[in-house]
Amino acid sequence: MDIIRILYTSRCTRPFSEPEIEELARASAERNLAAGISGILVYSGGRFLQVLEGEADAVESLFARIERDDRHTDVVAIYKEPIEERLFGEWSMRLCNLDEKGGLEPKALLAARDFFASVQGLSHNPLTRWIVEYFASRKNSWAA
Ligand SMILES: Cc1cc2nc3c(=O)[nH]c(=O)nc-3n(C[C@H](O)[C@H](O)[C@H](O)COP(=O)(O)O)c2cc1C
Repeated sequence: MDIIRILYTSRCTRPFSEPEIEELARASAERNLAAGISGILVYSGGRFLQVLEGEADAVESLFARIERDDRHTDVVAIYKEPIEERLFGEWSMRLCNLDEKGGLEPKALLAARDFFASVQGLSHNPLTRWIVEYFASRKNSWAA
């Protein structure tokens, strides 16, 4: 059974309100739990960054559905790779709204925002991995 991770970014087709983002994350978590998918959904300034982890078939078919979702556009897969272990195994979909959060260090926030601003062609940029690892390392400090 192959476990993979996909990291992608996208841009909202229209602004999401905070309750709408929360509802998207809640409904996603419910479906992902049933499908054995884990990950995080990061939102900032009209952009999403999402990590999806799970069995290859389940993740690929979810990603195909997500790509067709007209609530966002410019869906760019930054990397897709087999993994030994999940980074976000305890979360079926954890929301991190950077526009609302005070909990992240300013340096990380700035790096995340730069990242959002220039996502194209970043698959080999060390920042990409740093961002994902940063979220994984800080997960216990996020507000519930
Ligand atoms: C940014 C974004 C992230 C999403 N993440 C997930 C997710 O993690 N899991 C999920 O089941 N659906 C997610 N969705 C919703 C899917 O695109 C889709 O609407 C949902 O899976 C229901 O699919 P269906 O209408 O084909 O049944 C996401 C949508 C957006 C816009």
